[in-house]
This record gives sequence, structure tokens and C-alpha cells, in this order.
Amino acid sequence: MIGTGYVGLVTGTCFAELGHRVICVDMDKSKIDSLNAGGIPIYEPGLKELVRKNRKLKRIRFSTSIKEGVEASEIIFIAVNTPPLPDGGADLSFVEACTREVAQYANGYKLLVEKSTVPVQTGERVKQTLAMLGHSANNIEVASNPEFLREGSAIQDFLKPDRIVVGVQSKKAEKHLRELYAKIKCPMVVTDINSAELIKHASNSFLALKISYINAISHICEKVGADVSRVAEGMGLDSRIGKSFLSAGIGYGGSCFPKDVSAFIKIAEANGYDFSLLKKTEEINVDQRLLVVKKMEQALWTLKGKVIAVLGLAFKPNTDDLRNAPAIDIIRELLARGAVVKACDPVAAEKTKALFPKIEYCDTALEAAQGAHGLLLVTEWADFRKLNLAKLKSAMATPVVVDGRNMFDPLQMAQKGFVYHSIGRPAVARLDAKPVKPLVGKPS
Ligand code: UDX
Repeated sequence: MIGTGYVGLVTGTCFAELGHRVICVDMDKSKIDSLNAGGIPIYEPGLKELVRKNRKLKRIRFSTSIKEGVEASEIIFIAVNTPPLPDGGADLSFVEACTREVAQYANGYKLLVEKSTVPVQTGERVKQTLAMLGHSANNIEVASNPEFLREGSAIQDFLKPDRIVVGVQSKKAEKHLRELYAKIKCPMVVTDINSAELIKHASNSFLALKISYINAISHICEKVGADVSRVAEGMGLDSRIGKSFLSAGIGYGGSCFPKDVSAFIKIAEANGYDFSLLKKTEEINVDQRLLVVKKMEQALWTLKGKVIAVLGLAFKPNTDDLRNAPAIDIIRELLARGAVVKACDPVAAEKTKALFPKIEYCDTALEAAQGAHGLLLVTEWADFRKLNLAKLKSAMATPVVVDGRNMFDPLQMAQKGFVYHSIGRPAVARLDAKPVKPLVGKPS
């Protein structure tokens, strides 16, 4: 496994769990040293125990040497990162470097498998690179095996996937990959490399599209006084639509959806297709982040000098990952509008300090809410669902809540005396405030 990040480490460990012998390689010596000392460089529920178990069984080891990994392996996975380039395309330089090193150290037949998410036709480029370095498909064969791991449930997603996708060019490669995944009972889609690469981008982009679609519906709901969570419920019961990925809110973040959507747009353009549908998907998603800041400003009149508690920093619950996290853009916008920010997140606070050293970090939601004029729910951590609303209201300077993930119930919030705004659902003004009678006629 070349690349020991979110994908490589989970995939390598799960292959070991299936009984295979795995060498996880990474150029980052500190990461490898930490792993060899029993540490885990990423937050992923259940991973620490699984790594420890398979290290003890001597099924997995960690090294900084690609040479060692290549020489000892029959199947080599490229699991290096493919970050976005400034123009939105995928930076494949790590994949290219990895390919060259495999070619350099190959000591017999190798099956070189793309695990990283790569634009379609990357496999072609890998083959060309190998050919330029004197390797034919007989000794280094290329295949594609995209991952569908969600952060926070990656082990479960690997061991109990909906499907396994492999793109191969020979029966021999197919046989290797079937053996590799033999213990996992699920449909296996065996196809060509281009189709396998496309399945990944098309799947992630469709999920992103589905999220932007329900967020677009939430705007209409707000204008006509409907409730988007009920609309989503009614839609999702149609088996052709399905209820997942229909939660309106601040929109998607993370290391995959934003990157995959922009890379897919670019590769489509490079092949002569203008993917305007995905461009609109991106636009809607970016606008959602500003939307919650505007809602807070509208509720407080002005954000200048106001104390805003931001609940949730990671891009979603059960991870510490801040990549493309909505909270980052939202905090930046709040500060730009003169607000004072108090942030709270069960695991991602440490990483956020590097980005925003000057804001206050609190261990609990109530601490963040203390003296706050407004509270902004950004990431739907389970801890926040259990918040004692009476204590929350008494802690706040003014009981204004903007719920970016529709985590709370509007009626309950109204009954507890909050001004409550969420996404695609009717806003709730404070019920205990005496309505201000508009002046009619001439003042007496
Ligand atoms: C995603 C894909 O699900 C996974 O298959 C792929 O391999 C990697 O990218 P991940 O990015 O880890 O996984 O998280 P996921 O759970 O898919 O959520 C992605 C984003 O969508 C999160 O920011 C989440 O908050 C958001 N989301 C999800 C919504 O806004 N609404 C929803 O209904 C669901």
C-alpha cells in the first residue's frame, strides 16, 4: 500500500484483517515512526485497535521504503493523495512519481492497482509511463480498484461494502483481485479501467449533486413556507430516490466531494464536455456556507462585536478532518464581519487552532454559549443533540440559534424561548416577546 493516509492506512489494515500480509509505505517518516510505535496519525473509529491486532499478528508492517514494499509484494496499491490543482483539476504528480518508483524496483510480475481517486484515463497514463520505462503489461499490469470509504465509518464501509469495483485488462488481474477480496460477500463489478475510474467520480459527484439538489429545494421551502425535512421524507420513500444524502444544511465538505466534483468537471472539459450540471452543484454548495452567516446577521441586526458560538469544526461528525470544512469558511466570514468567535468541537479543535489561533476554543457547547449573542450549529456531533436547552438559553446573552444542520426541533426551540433559524424550515421568533404593535394613525 503506497500512501498511508485516510485511504491507504484503512485499506491496508483491512486487507490484513482479511488475512493478507501488508506493507504500508509512506514517505512521511514521522507518520511511519508513529505507526511503528503504536500511534495512529488519523482519527478513525476502531482503526487503532485493528492496527494493533494486525501488527501483533505480524500481518501488517510500516516502512518508508517503496523499494522494500515493491520487492516483497505481488499486488501494489497506489493510495497516495491526488489533491486539487489551482484550476480544480487533480494533481497526479504523486501518482506519477509512485509509478516511476514501482517501475524502478519491480523484481518480477506486479499488479499495480489505482486505489486513489483519479480522473478517468489516468490508468492510460500509468501504462504509458511504465512503457516509457521499459515495462510491458506482462510484468507490470495496471488495474483500478476505487474506494468508497466514508470518514468516520471507513472500516465498516470496507468490510461491508455495497459493491467492489475493479477495472482490469486480463483474467489474471481479475483472478488476483477476486482472491484478494474473496472473504467479502458483495457484488463485484468487473469492468475495464476507464469505466472503473469513472464509477468513482460519477458516484461521488452524484452524491454531491443530490445534496445540492435538496439544498436548492430548501430555498424554495423557505420562500413558500414548507418544511424541507418533510419534503425530503416524502421524496426519500421512493425507492428510486432513497432517503440518504437528502439532508439539507450547510452542504458538503471533506477531502472528497469538493475535490472530486471539480476534478470531474475538468476532465470532462478536457474531453470536450461542459459539465454545467456539476458547476451548478458546486455553486449551490458554496453559497450554503454564507447563507448561515447571513441568517445570523439578519437575526442579530449586525455581527460587529457580537459573540458567536460555533458548534462543530470538522467537516462532519466522527472525524477530525478539516479539509474543505464549512466551519473554516464560516469562521472566516464571521471574523470578517467583526464577530468574536468561540468554537467547540469534540476532536477537531486542536487542528483548527493552527488556522485560527486568535479565537477562543471551548471544551463544551455550554462554555462556548456562555455570554454568546448567537449560536451557530455547523457540525451535527451527537454531543450537541443532548444539549440542555434551558441551560443553553440562560447561558447566552441573547437566545439566537442558527442551526446549519437542522439538528434541533423548531417547535421545541420556540417553546424554550429561542429565536431559531434553520435550513429550509420556517424560522421561529421568540414566543414570549410581546409583539410590537405597529403605530397606526397619528401619535397622540
Ligand atoms: C465521501 C463518500 O461518501 C465516499 O463514498 C467516498 O469514498 C469519499 O467521500 P466522506 O466525504 O468521508 O465520503 O463523507 P460523507 O459521509 O459522504 O459526507 C460528505 C459530506 O456531505 C459531508 O460534509 C456531509 O456533511 C455532507 N452531507 C452528507 C450533507 O450535507 N447532507 C447529507 O444528506 C449527507
